[in-house]
Amino acid sequence: MRTQIGIVGAGPAGLVLAHLLHLQGIESVVIETRSRKYIEERVRAGLLEHGTVKLLIETGVGERLQRECLTHHGIVLRFHRGSHRIDFNDLAGGKTVTIYAQQEVIKDLVAARLAAGLPILFDVEDVSVHGYEGSSPSIRFHAAGKEEVLHCDYIAGCDGFHGICRPSLPAGVLTEFERVYPFGWLGILAEAPPSNDELVYCYHERGFALLTMRTRQISRLYLQVPHDEDIEAWSDDRIWSELRKRTEADGGWKLNEGHIFQKNIASMRSYVVEPMQYGKMFLAGDAAHIVPPTGAKGLNLAVADVRIMAKAFAEFYKTGKTHLLERYSETCLRRVWKAQRFSWWMTSMLHRFDTDNAFDQRRQLAELDYVTSSRAAMTSLAENYVGLPWD
Ligand code: FAD
Ligand code: DHB
Repeated sequence: MRTQIGIVGAGPAGLVLAHLLHLQGIESVVIETRSRKYIEERVRAGLLEHGTVKLLIETGVGERLQRECLTHHGIVLRFHRGSHRIDFNDLAGGKTVTIYAQQEVIKDLVAARLAAGLPILFDVEDVSVHGYEGSSPSIRFHAAGKEEVLHCDYIAGCDGFHGICRPSLPAGVLTEFERVYPFGWLGILAEAPPSNDELVYCYHERGFALLTMRTRQISRLYLQVPHDEDIEAWSDDRIWSELRKRTEADGGWKLNEGHIFQKNIASMRSYVVEPMQYGKMFLAGDAAHIVPPTGAKGLNLAVADVRIMAKAFAEFYKTGKTHLLERYSETCLRRVWKAQRFSWWMTSMLHRFDTDNAFDQRRQLAELDYVTSSRAAMTSLAENYVGLPWD
C-alpha cells in the first residue's frame, strides 16, 4: 500500500486532517485500532469553539451539526449561591460556542469519508511507525490477521495520549511539560432537560460542579472527585445529592433530575511535548498535548493543529516548499500554550485543592468576584472561552 499521508488514529484530529487533505486533493489512509462502532459511541467532549464549528460547516461536514446543535451566547459562573453571567454577545464580539457531542462529529466525518470512497482501516492491530527519520516513512500493522505495510511521504501521529507515535520517537528528541491534578471529573449523562439554558460552572466548598448538556432532553453533568476515586462509590442517589448541594443557588433554582444512563471518571492533567514534529512525523491533538477539561479546549485544539498541518501539506504538494511544514510545531505551540494557560487558570479558580488553606480559598473567591465584576477580566475570559483567533 502507498499513500501521501499515513494518518494514525481516527479521533477528531485524524479524521478532520483526512477530510481537509482530501479537499486539497491530497491522498491519505487513516488507521484505527478500534472499531467504527466504538469510536462513534465513545462519550467525550461536547463543546465546540466558534472556529471549530465554522471549519466543519465551511468544509461541508456541518449539515447535521447545524440542524441539531445548541448555540450558546454566554456561560454562568456560580459561587456563594449567586449566579453571574458572562455575555459573549457583549464581550466576545458576538462569537458563540456550540454544544454538539464529539461522537456526533466523529459520525459525520466517518460518513463523509466513506461516502467519498476513501479509506479508514478500523480494528487494526500491532501498529508501528518506521523510517520517518529518513526519506521512506512507513506504518506497519495487522489487518484481519494479515501483516500490512503502508508506505507514505509523511506520518501524522493523531493517535491520542495513549498512542504509539509519540513514544516511538527517539529518546532525547522531545521535552515533556506536565502537571497532574489531585482530582478528576465524574461525568454523567442523564435523561433530564438541562436545568439552565447555558452552562453553569459552580465553585463550592464541597468541590467543583459543571452543568452542561447534549440536547434539550439530555443533561451532561460533572463533579470534581478525588483522582483515585472508585466509580462504584457513586450511586445515582449520591450523585444527585452531591449535585444538588454543589449547584445550590438563590432565586428559585431547581436541578432537573432523571435516569442516569452513562457515568465515568476522567483524570486531569496538563501536558505538552515540544517539538510536535520530528523528521517526517507530525503529532497533533492529544498525541502532543492534554489540557484539563475545564473550559473544553481538548477537541478544539486538536482541530486547530490539523488545520495548520493540512495547510502546510497543501503548500508542500502545490509548490514543493517545506517552509510551513518546518514551522508546524512552532505555529501550533503558540496557541497550545495559551489554551494550556486558560485551562489551568479555569481549573485553578474553580476546583478545591487538597492543599487548600483559608488563604487560597479567599484568593479563589476574590478571583471569581473580580472575573464577574471587571469588564476587562470578563472580556479576557470570554475571548479565550469562545476560542482565540487561529491566524
Ligand atoms: P483521540 O480522540 O484520543 O483519538 C485518537 C484515536 O487514535 C483514537 O480513536 C484511538 O483509538 C486511536 N489510536 C490509539 N492508538 C492507536 C494506534 N496505536 N494505532 C491506531 N490508532 C490508535 N475535551 C473537551 O474539550 N471537553 C470534554 O468534556 C472532554 N472530555 C473528555 C473525557 C474523556 C474521558 C477523555 C479521554 C477526553 C476528554 N476530552 C474533552 C478531550 C477530548 O476528547 C480530546 O482532546 C480529543 O478527543 C482529542 O482528539 P484526538 O483526535 O487528538 O485524540
Ligand atoms: C463540556 C465539557 C467541559 O469540560 C466544559 O468546560 C464545557 C462543556 C461538555 O462536555 O459539554
